[in-house]
Amino acid sequence: MSLIENLKWRYATKRFDSNKKLNSANLELLKESVRLSASSYGLQLYKVLIIEDEKMKALLKDASWGQAQITEASHIFVFCNYSKVTSQQIDEYLQLKASIQNLKTDDLKAYGDFMKNTLLGMAEEQMNNWTAKQCYIALGNLLAASADLKIDACPMEGFEPEKYNKILGLKAKGLNAAVIAAVGYRSQDDQTQFAAKVRKPLEELFETI
Ligand SMILES: Cc1cc2nc3c(=O)[nH]c(=O)nc-3n(C[C@H](O)[C@H](O)[C@H](O)COP(=O)(O)O)c2cc1C
Repeated sequence: MSLIENLKWRYATKRFDSNKKLNSANLELLKESVRLSASSYGLQLYKVLIIEDEKMKALLKDASWGQAQITEASHIFVFCNYSKVTSQQIDEYLQLKASIQNLKTDDLKAYGDFMKNTLLGMAEEQMNNWTAKQCYIALGNLLAASADLKIDACPMEGFEPEKYNKILGLKAKGLNAAVIAAVGYRSQDDQTQFAAKVRKPLEELFETI
Protein backbone atom coordinates (compact mmCIF):
# COMPACT_ATOMS: atom_id res chain seq x y z
CA MET A 1 0.00 0.00 0.00
CA SER A 2 1.67 3.18 -1.15
CA LEU A 3 -0.03 5.27 1.55
CA ILE A 4 1.94 3.44 4.25
CA GLU A 5 5.20 3.96 2.35
CA ASN A 6 4.38 7.64 2.00
CA LEU A 7 3.51 7.95 5.70
CA LYS A 8 6.91 6.46 6.49
CA TRP A 9 8.50 8.99 4.13
CA ARG A 10 6.83 12.02 5.72
CA TYR A 11 8.10 13.70 8.84
CA ALA A 12 7.38 16.92 10.71
CA THR A 13 9.68 19.10 8.65
CA LYS A 14 11.73 21.61 10.63
CA ARG A 15 13.63 23.33 7.81
CA PHE A 16 12.06 23.97 4.43
CA ASP A 17 13.81 25.04 1.22
CA SER A 18 12.38 28.53 0.84
CA ASN A 19 13.23 28.56 -2.89
CA LYS A 20 10.84 25.70 -3.61
CA LYS A 21 7.19 26.68 -3.90
CA LEU A 22 4.09 24.53 -4.34
CA ASN A 23 2.62 24.75 -7.83
CA SER A 24 -1.03 25.70 -8.15
CA ALA A 25 -2.13 22.20 -9.26
CA ASN A 26 -0.71 20.65 -6.08
CA LEU A 27 -2.13 23.43 -3.96
CA GLU A 28 -5.59 22.71 -5.39
CA LEU A 29 -5.18 18.98 -4.59
CA LEU A 30 -4.24 19.79 -0.98
CA LYS A 31 -7.26 22.11 -0.69
CA GLU A 32 -9.48 19.34 -2.04
CA SER A 33 -8.12 16.89 0.56
CA VAL A 34 -9.15 19.36 3.27
CA ARG A 35 -12.54 20.01 1.66
CA LEU A 36 -13.28 16.27 1.52
CA SER A 37 -12.51 15.75 5.22
CA ALA A 38 -15.12 14.17 7.41
CA SER A 39 -16.68 16.39 10.07
CA SER A 40 -19.32 15.87 12.72
CA TYR A 41 -22.75 15.99 11.06
CA GLY A 42 -20.90 17.24 7.96
CA LEU A 43 -21.10 20.80 9.27
CA GLN A 44 -17.45 21.77 8.51
CA LEU A 45 -17.47 24.50 11.15
CA TYR A 46 -14.11 25.92 10.18
CA LYS A 47 -12.37 28.00 7.57
CA VAL A 48 -8.84 27.49 6.34
CA LEU A 49 -6.59 30.45 5.57
CA ILE A 50 -3.68 29.80 3.23
CA ILE A 51 -0.83 32.20 3.80
CA GLU A 52 1.67 32.81 1.01
CA ASP A 53 2.40 36.51 1.55
CA GLU A 54 5.97 36.83 2.86
CA LYS A 55 5.25 39.88 5.02
CA MET A 56 2.32 38.12 6.66
CA LYS A 57 4.47 35.03 7.23
CA ALA A 58 7.09 37.18 9.00
CA LEU A 59 4.41 38.60 11.30
CA LEU A 60 3.09 35.12 12.05
CA LYS A 61 6.59 33.76 12.74
CA ASP A 62 6.85 36.17 15.68
CA ALA A 63 3.60 34.69 16.99
CA SER A 64 4.86 31.11 16.44
CA TRP A 65 7.71 30.90 18.93
CA GLY A 66 10.02 32.08 16.12
CA GLN A 67 9.78 28.68 14.39
CA ALA A 68 11.61 28.76 11.05
CA GLN A 69 8.94 26.75 9.20
CA ILE A 70 6.62 29.75 9.11
CA THR A 71 8.82 31.83 6.82
CA GLU A 72 10.72 29.02 5.04
CA ALA A 73 7.74 26.90 3.99
CA SER A 74 5.93 27.62 0.76
CA HIS A 75 2.47 27.97 2.32
CA ILE A 76 0.97 28.02 5.82
CA PHE A 77 -2.46 26.52 6.33
CA VAL A 78 -4.23 28.10 9.31
CA PHE A 79 -7.18 25.99 10.41
CA CYS A 80 -9.68 28.30 12.08
CA ASN A 81 -12.69 26.94 13.93
CA TYR A 82 -15.91 28.88 14.40
CA SER A 83 -15.97 29.65 18.13
CA LYS A 84 -19.74 29.29 18.36
CA VAL A 85 -22.24 26.95 16.76
CA THR A 86 -25.32 28.82 15.54
CA SER A 87 -28.75 27.94 14.29
CA GLN A 88 -27.92 29.80 11.06
CA GLN A 89 -24.88 27.57 10.35
CA ILE A 90 -27.05 24.48 10.75
CA ASP A 91 -29.75 25.91 8.47
CA GLU A 92 -27.15 26.80 5.84
CA TYR A 93 -25.79 23.25 5.96
CA LEU A 94 -29.29 21.83 5.51
CA GLN A 95 -29.91 24.11 2.53
CA LEU A 96 -26.64 23.01 0.95
CA LYS A 97 -27.44 19.34 1.57
CA ALA A 98 -30.95 19.77 0.14
CA SER A 99 -29.65 21.46 -3.02
CA ILE A 100 -26.82 18.96 -3.63
CA GLN A 101 -28.85 15.86 -2.84
CA ASN A 102 -32.05 17.13 -4.44
CA LEU A 103 -34.07 16.98 -1.23
CA LYS A 104 -36.75 19.22 0.24
CA THR A 105 -35.54 21.29 3.20
CA ASP A 106 -38.83 20.39 4.95
CA ASP A 107 -37.82 16.71 4.87
CA LEU A 108 -34.62 17.61 6.73
CA LYS A 109 -36.40 19.52 9.51
CA ALA A 110 -36.32 16.65 12.02
CA TYR A 111 -32.60 16.15 11.38
CA GLY A 112 -32.02 19.89 11.79
CA ASP A 113 -33.96 19.97 15.04
CA PHE A 114 -31.92 17.02 16.32
CA MET A 115 -28.66 18.82 15.52
CA LYS A 116 -29.88 22.05 17.08
CA ASN A 117 -31.04 20.28 20.26
CA THR A 118 -27.71 18.54 20.59
CA LEU A 119 -25.38 21.37 19.65
CA LEU A 120 -26.91 24.71 20.59
CA GLY A 121 -27.20 23.76 24.26
CA MET A 122 -23.43 23.44 24.66
CA ALA A 123 -21.58 25.97 26.81
CA GLU A 124 -19.44 28.41 24.78
CA GLU A 125 -16.15 26.78 25.77
CA GLN A 126 -17.49 23.37 24.87
CA MET A 127 -18.61 24.67 21.46
CA ASN A 128 -15.18 26.12 20.81
CA ASN A 129 -13.46 22.87 21.79
CA TRP A 130 -15.83 20.81 19.67
CA THR A 131 -15.37 22.88 16.51
CA ALA A 132 -11.59 23.06 17.08
CA LYS A 133 -11.48 19.24 17.17
CA GLN A 134 -12.97 19.12 13.68
CA CYS A 135 -9.96 21.07 12.41
CA TYR A 136 -7.63 18.26 13.45
CA ILE A 137 -9.43 15.78 11.18
CA ALA A 138 -8.87 18.14 8.25
CA LEU A 139 -5.25 18.58 9.34
CA GLY A 140 -4.80 14.78 9.27
CA ASN A 141 -6.10 14.64 5.71
CA LEU A 142 -3.78 17.47 4.67
CA LEU A 143 -0.78 15.61 6.12
CA ALA A 144 -1.71 12.36 4.38
CA ALA A 145 -2.42 14.09 1.06
CA SER A 146 0.86 15.99 1.28
CA ALA A 147 2.75 12.74 1.86
CA ASP A 148 0.93 11.16 -1.08
CA LEU A 149 2.15 14.01 -3.31
CA LYS A 150 5.67 13.88 -1.80
CA ILE A 151 5.13 17.35 -0.42
CA ASP A 152 6.59 18.07 3.01
CA ALA A 153 4.56 19.41 5.90
CA CYS A 154 4.79 20.25 9.56
CA PRO A 155 1.69 20.22 11.78
CA MET A 156 2.08 22.94 14.40
CA GLU A 157 0.48 23.92 17.67
CA GLY A 158 3.49 25.98 18.68
CA PHE A 159 1.92 29.37 18.12
CA GLU A 160 -0.09 31.91 20.12
CA PRO A 161 -3.73 31.66 19.00
CA GLU A 162 -4.66 35.06 20.44
CA LYS A 163 -1.92 36.75 18.41
CA TYR A 164 -2.96 34.88 15.27
CA ASN A 165 -6.56 35.92 15.88
CA LYS A 166 -5.47 39.52 16.09
CA ILE A 167 -3.04 39.54 13.15
CA LEU A 168 -5.50 37.76 10.85
CA GLY A 169 -8.61 39.57 12.09
CA LEU A 170 -10.29 36.30 13.00
CA LYS A 171 -12.39 37.30 16.02
CA ALA A 172 -14.58 39.66 13.98
CA LYS A 173 -15.48 36.71 11.74
CA GLY A 174 -16.27 34.47 14.72
CA LEU A 175 -13.14 32.43 14.04
CA ASN A 176 -10.26 31.19 16.18
CA ALA A 177 -6.88 29.80 15.04
CA ALA A 178 -6.93 26.15 16.19
CA VAL A 179 -3.94 24.50 14.52
CA ILE A 180 -1.64 25.24 11.59
CA ALA A 181 0.46 23.38 9.05
CA ALA A 182 3.52 24.56 7.16
CA VAL A 183 3.70 23.00 3.68
CA GLY A 184 6.48 22.99 1.11
CA TYR A 185 9.69 21.09 0.36
CA ARG A 186 12.33 19.97 2.83
CA SER A 187 15.74 21.56 2.96
CA GLN A 188 18.53 19.05 2.35
CA ASP A 189 20.09 20.52 5.53
CA ASP A 190 17.16 19.46 7.72
CA GLN A 191 18.73 16.78 9.91
CA THR A 192 15.32 15.63 11.20
CA GLN A 193 14.66 13.83 7.90
CA PHE A 194 17.40 11.30 8.73
CA ALA A 195 16.06 10.38 12.18
CA ALA A 196 14.24 7.06 12.58
CA LYS A 197 10.53 7.29 13.27
CA VAL A 198 9.54 6.94 16.91
CA ARG A 199 6.26 5.08 17.25
CA LYS A 200 4.84 2.73 19.88
CA PRO A 201 4.82 -0.93 18.86
CA LEU A 202 1.50 -2.16 17.42
CA GLU A 203 0.86 -4.47 20.38
CA GLU A 204 1.05 -1.54 22.78
CA LEU A 205 -1.08 0.77 20.66
CA PHE A 206 -3.84 -1.70 19.84
CA GLU A 207 -5.94 -4.09 21.81
CA THR A 208 -8.32 -6.41 20.08
CA ILE A 209 -11.41 -7.29 22.07
C1 LIG B 1 -1.05 18.84 16.65
C2 LIG B 1 0.43 18.84 16.47
C3 LIG B 1 1.18 19.93 16.83
C4 LIG B 1 2.56 19.98 16.58
N1 LIG B 1 3.27 21.13 16.84
C5 LIG B 1 4.55 21.22 16.39
C6 LIG B 1 5.24 22.46 16.42
O1 LIG B 1 4.73 23.49 16.86
N2 LIG B 1 6.52 22.49 15.95
C7 LIG B 1 7.14 21.38 15.44
O2 LIG B 1 8.29 21.48 14.98
N3 LIG B 1 6.49 20.19 15.39
C8 LIG B 1 5.22 20.08 15.83
N4 LIG B 1 4.55 18.88 15.74
C9 LIG B 1 5.24 17.71 15.15
C10 LIG B 1 5.39 16.53 16.10
O3 LIG B 1 6.39 16.80 17.05
C11 LIG B 1 5.67 15.28 15.27
O4 LIG B 1 4.60 15.05 14.42
C12 LIG B 1 5.94 14.06 16.14
O5 LIG B 1 7.11 14.20 16.88
C13 LIG B 1 6.04 12.79 15.29
O6 LIG B 1 7.08 12.90 14.35
P1 LIG B 1 6.83 12.82 12.77
O7 LIG B 1 5.61 13.62 12.45
O8 LIG B 1 8.07 13.42 12.18
O9 LIG B 1 6.66 11.39 12.40
C14 LIG B 1 3.19 18.84 16.01
C15 LIG B 1 2.42 17.72 15.69
C16 LIG B 1 1.07 17.72 15.88
C17 LIG B 1 0.26 16.52 15.43
